[in-house]
Amino acid sequence: MLNIPVSRPFIGEEEADAARDAVIKGDISGIFGSYIQEFEKGYASFCGTKHAITVNSGTTALHLAIATLEIGPGDDVLVSSLTNMATFFAVLYQGARPIPIDIKPDTYNIDPALLEEKLTPKTKAIIIVHLYGHPVDMGPVMEFSHKYRLRVIEDVAEAHGAEWNGQRVGSFGDISCHSFYANKILTTGEGGMLTLNDDRLANRAKTLKTLAFGKENKFIHQDIGYNYRLTNIQCAIGVIQLKKINEILRLKRSMAAFYTQELNDIEGLQLPVEKSYAKNVYWMYHVVLTGSLEGKRTAIMSKLKERGIETRESFVPFNQQIDIIKKYHLDQPHDCPIANRISREGFYLPSGTVISQLELETVVHEVRSICRKISCI
Ligand SMILES: Cc1ncc(COP(=O)(O)O)c(C=O)c1O
Repeated sequence: MLNIPVSRPFIGEEEADAARDAVIKGDISGIFGSYIQEFEKGYASFCGTKHAITVNSGTTALHLAIATLEIGPGDDVLVSSLTNMATFFAVLYQGARPIPIDIKPDTYNIDPALLEEKLTPKTKAIIIVHLYGHPVDMGPVMEFSHKYRLRVIEDVAEAHGAEWNGQRVGSFGDISCHSFYANKILTTGEGGMLTLNDDRLANRAKTLKTLAFGKENKFIHQDIGYNYRLTNIQCAIGVIQLKKINEILRLKRSMAAFYTQELNDIEGLQLPVEKSYAKNVYWMYHVVLTGSLEGKRTAIMSKLKERGIETRESFVPFNQQIDIIKKYHLDQPHDCPIANRISREGFYLPSGTVISQLELETVVHEVRSICRKISCI
């Protein structure tokens, strides 16, 4: 039975050897071991930042960023509405209020034109998400944040290596947050990273990351800290993944180029874009149904599944997370009509780095034939 998963990690013998080396040396924890420093140094240089700080997931990276910036109760944070809910949870963990901002209909990233009207006297920060690998248009975002002296947090979980006007994402924000979960562009199984330039914030993040141990007496703590450390074993894997990153990005882009070339004439299938300012790294090849295919997502996804092709629906925006909003008595957020539509009509095709040409051709063939039949019904 054919099975083409949404993603397979690009990982193998070399990563296994490096992890083994860390284990054999007994350098396994999140303080000791040379792979931690090597991974952090290499990743900072990849992003073009002064500091990179490993953490154990993208979610903890986001939380640590919010805590480091001392955002808390009484503060508002503007957040791109369509994202993994970890982006919103990070704000809620600290007792601050996330305000969802609707997205652009083509890049699915935050719409900078909507920021001004959502600003309140309590707004402290803005979290942008480079969704599915396409960079946010950083120009207007940075202009807005400078004008109102807001902190900028970049969620780079899905966009390692993406560029805005030639500059890598992860280097624009006061703090940028990365995820190395199994399906991410660069993976350590689970894991994450903060990238930043400010020495004071870097010191604070490093302290909070490891229980805020005291400087003179370790057990007289400086603050309420967390254990968000990444193991040296995972950093060993990260070091090898970083050596492969250019190859991974090349494979992602060639997967996307093939899909775009083969699917661009299907009526009602909106494909990913690459704006003139952007280098898209196509974490996932995300499509949106429009026109005659609108409302047919369940039918299309289940037909693909019958043929052994796995797909995944788009995220559901924060304004639709009714259970959480009710349970925690959160203010009913403003509606985000574009995010609602993309969430309802969007899904992604198999987009792993490890996907054969034959598998890509099979996906294209099945998508074409299913869409043709369904739009005639
Ligand atoms: C945009 C975004 N932010 C945050 C996260 C959370 O990262 P993690 O799963 O490593 O906690 C993810 C994905 O997993 C994500 O896609």
